[in-house]
Amino acid sequence: MSEPDLLFPPGFRWGVATAAFQIEGAWDADGKGPSNWDTRAHRPGGLAGGATGDVACDHYHRLTEDLDLLAGLGVDSYRFSVSWPRVQPAGRGRWNGRGLAFYDRLVDGLLARDIEPMLTVYHWDHPQPIEDAGGWADRDTAARFADYAEGLAARFGDRVTRWITLNEPLSVMHAEMTGPPEAPVRRHGLRVAHHLLLGHGLAVPRLRAQAPHGEIGISLNLAGMTAAGEHPHDVAAAARAEVYEDRLFLDPLLRGEYPRLDDRPVIEADDADRAVIAAPLDFLGVNWYAPARIAASTSGVFGYTRVPWPGTSTNLLGWPVAPELFGALLTWLRARYPDAPPIHVTENGFPAVDEPDVTGSVQDLRRVTYLRACLREVSAAVEAGSDIRGYHVWSLLDNLEWEHGYRPRFGLVHVDFATLARTPKASYRWYRQLISGQPRDR
Ligand code: NOJ
Repeated sequence: MSEPDLLFPPGFRWGVATAAFQIEGAWDADGKGPSNWDTRAHRPGGLAGGATGDVACDHYHRLTEDLDLLAGLGVDSYRFSVSWPRVQPAGRGRWNGRGLAFYDRLVDGLLARDIEPMLTVYHWDHPQPIEDAGGWADRDTAARFADYAEGLAARFGDRVTRWITLNEPLSVMHAEMTGPPEAPVRRHGLRVAHHLLLGHGLAVPRLRAQAPHGEIGISLNLAGMTAAGEHPHDVAAAARAEVYEDRLFLDPLLRGEYPRLDDRPVIEADDADRAVIAAPLDFLGVNWYAPARIAASTSGVFGYTRVPWPGTSTNLLGWPVAPELFGALLTWLRARYPDAPPIHVTENGFPAVDEPDVTGSVQDLRRVTYLRACLREVSAAVEAGSDIRGYHVWSLLDNLEWEHGYRPRFGLVHVDFATLARTPKASYRWYRQLISGQPRDR
């Protein structure tokens, strides 16, 4: 299968991404403490289908097999996250040596296979004591996070190629905002957003000091907003969605100020905080799954809501299948932030049910079609001058999709959650072939 329209420049990094809570399991092994997500999963009615992360893909105990799957795929880069409660169970103070040793084995195993480690410091799971103290609503969590990041860099800074402080702070903010659309929910969400950004900004210089050769970035989930119609209400709603989602983190990170509505910044912050947050970055991580079509709505917390896209199908999670709009987002990004650092696509993927057929193979052809269409957009953006340096598929393995449990599968590798057997899908073979046909400079 040759794909001449999917050639990328030499040096472009090909990868896959995962996150600790979603794959590791071993939730209380070797001194790991409980996380906010363990607590939530263990509560009655916690996650869909009664799912927990107790075992997940048991990646913690199947590390070598999973490293070999990465090597078989031929990726240049592997994006993973560290479980904060595994390495620092109380969220401050004492480090757990056995937890750190797991990530030593992971990082060394990657390097032995010539794969660059891309380490996400925070992919949503924090120690339960941090949660008990107020989580991200508490300003002190930013300081705790920066200490934790520095500790990781002191340990792994000699071997990790790229560092991602936070994964999708917008999703963290949204997860904290469940409840009726009242002013307190809104204020709470924006406070969480500010503390996440502050934690990021405090961590950046400390990562740099400990990992001088590492590149440092952050991963944001961006959508690209389209108004549902020409009515001024909908046009204004789409502009609000851009402010409260796509620009809420980009503007303070890259322009040093929060976006404004009605001539006021949506978050009031002093100069000192804004300077911390705008610490220079080496790359911007972009996670993209789907665009958003926006209409005015009084039931939405910020006065807008997502509405269906006429004539566009949706995937298992209800997201519009419109890969052609990835390019629009990349164009918007380049136009609005001309001084942005280089981009790494740190996630892009497709959820589906993915049942094995009678022969046991998984023909996830819709995933292949989707990823290929997204990559065409990335390639066109590169050709048009966007500085995009790498691309990571979400995800290596089927895994625990947070509140949705185990039903939505994103993996290039199928996981049978009864036996934990791994079976590469058609998409794994497609991606391997695509990577092997690229010009190499490494
Ligand atoms: C966003 C998150 O970073 C990841 O954890 C999640 O599984 C995927 N996107 C798919 O929803």
